Amino acid sequence: MNITPAQQLTRLVQEWIDQYLPQPPSGSVVQPCNDPRFGHYQSNVAMAAAKVLKKNPREIATSLVEYCQTADFIEPPEVAGPGFVNFTFKQECLEIACSRLAEDTNLGVTPEESPKTIVVDFSAPNVAKEMHVGHIRSTILGDSIARILKIKGHHVIRDNHIGDWGTQFGKLILGYKERGKPEFPESESLAMMQELYQATHQACEADANKLNAAREELKKLQEGDEENLEIWKFFRDRSQSAFDSIYQRLNVTFDHTLGESFFNPWLKSTVEELSQKSIAQESEGAKVVFFEEDELKDHPFLIEKSDGAALYATTDLATLKYRVDEWKAQQLIYVTDGRQQLHFKQLFSTAGRWGQEVDCYHIWFGAILGENKKPLKTREGNPIRLKDLLDEAEQRAKAILLEKRSDLKEAEAQEMARVIGIGALKYADLSQNRNLDYVFDWNKLLAFDGNTAPYLLNAYVRTRSILRKAEVTGEITGASFHLELPHEQALARLLLEYGTVVDQVTKEYRPHLLCGYLYEVASMFHKFFEHCPVLKAGTGALKQSRLSMCQLTGDVLKHGLELLGIETLEMM
Ligand code: ARG
Repeated sequence: MNITPAQQLTRLVQEWIDQYLPQPPSGSVVQPCNDPRFGHYQSNVAMAAAKVLKKNPREIATSLVEYCQTADFIEPPEVAGPGFVNFTFKQECLEIACSRLAEDTNLGVTPEESPKTIVVDFSAPNVAKEMHVGHIRSTILGDSIARILKIKGHHVIRDNHIGDWGTQFGKLILGYKERGKPEFPESESLAMMQELYQATHQACEADANKLNAAREELKKLQEGDEENLEIWKFFRDRSQSAFDSIYQRLNVTFDHTLGESFFNPWLKSTVEELSQKSIAQESEGAKVVFFEEDELKDHPFLIEKSDGAALYATTDLATLKYRVDEWKAQQLIYVTDGRQQLHFKQLFSTAGRWGQEVDCYHIWFGAILGENKKPLKTREGNPIRLKDLLDEAEQRAKAILLEKRSDLKEAEAQEMARVIGIGALKYADLSQNRNLDYVFDWNKLLAFDGNTAPYLLNAYVRTRSILRKAEVTGEITGASFHLELPHEQALARLLLEYGTVVDQVTKEYRPHLLCGYLYEVASMFHKFFEHCPVLKAGTGALKQSRLSMCQLTGDVLKHGLELLGIETLEMM
């Protein structure tokens, strides 16, 4: 396996730590220098060790410097200031590493040594309701995380656990029958179902007889009444096709869509098993799991109501077992908004006591806020429909594009606007620390400067247009590098870090780290381009090397954007 210069340096410093420091300091052993004039990387370990050992930091740093004198890939290091050690890679070391990177189709992303079977549970909208902006975050984040785990060599199973079973169907079926089972135009199905639900819900609030009738319909459905099952299937199928058209636009796929209803046959046995094992207890006629952990002590997990009805929790327990038994899942990842944190803590704790051997991880995210810092709504105060959001993204991107390029033909502009608009929407979401709420701002996410998709796409297009101008067709093979100037070395060092960054993302499932990195690559590329002439570079070899840097930068940007689920354009 190829290791990067930074990894090689980390190893070297680590060797010294192992030999000379009785207590290894915590934190990273080397980090990039803030000011490139001092070197490429810096180590603060001597300072940290000096505190613990109560010794002079410069003395400890001198020992590290001496240890590194003979390493052939760095210039002889020096002690700086109170006890930092600055390291500079030899030019040749960077050049060789870049040649290797250029030959690696995975650009330094290495497969995991022991890959796992991992289920990613994401998107999961609810039937007969419009998908809302919360579902967009789950869809986009889940898709990106699944892509990243796959490139790391894991066996990834994408499962859409749609909410297709629940008490809302009583009212829906009642309303539908009362209206004489009207036809829904395909494209308006979700809106009509939502309206139907709301109208019947209101009627039930006002009239107890109606409410009873709705309960009756629900009971019939749950008992397998043929007519009600057929209506339920109609609602589900119509919802699914509306979801599918959104997934298609987002270029998101699933291996399975096993909704809540799929798990009905196992609900009773799940509750029975948990009761038998004394994990669940009877409490006021209901079945409940109590916890000892401090944070869950006051939050029992209700898995069967006193009337015998199962709940969200029950389905999730049955689903978890199914994934372990049937798919041999070793890890389960759930992507939902932060309001479900308690639910998943309860679920994971129960699963552990139940003996389900599987690592569980809840990837939660904050809310998307409007300008008023309240959850994003339409001007009329309704939740924003995902479909409208996608339409608006494309329209706005098109307007911006046509302003810059009035020469574009309609179809061309439309296609480019699709890539830019959808990409910008996805990127706005992924580039945020997922645990924070963020304010949605069209102007910001579609801006051509700043940490945005248009900025990255623009940088990518630039790398490609330079190559076209130089008439390089296809990949540059056997690239050799001459990295003389600081800016080309800086770009090289950054590109060499790509694999490490992808690994960091998988540690806590934080795609925003990849976004931040790609943004740095794009900015560094512009600086490189400013300071290091490419097409006008003197000798043939230097020009070739700089063209190879353009190629490599473009490859990393494209690969990274792909992991985020964002398409690229060759021209813009
Ligand atoms: N349908 C749920 C919702 O809209 C999300 C389901 C998440 N997945 C799960 N296994 N609980 O909130």
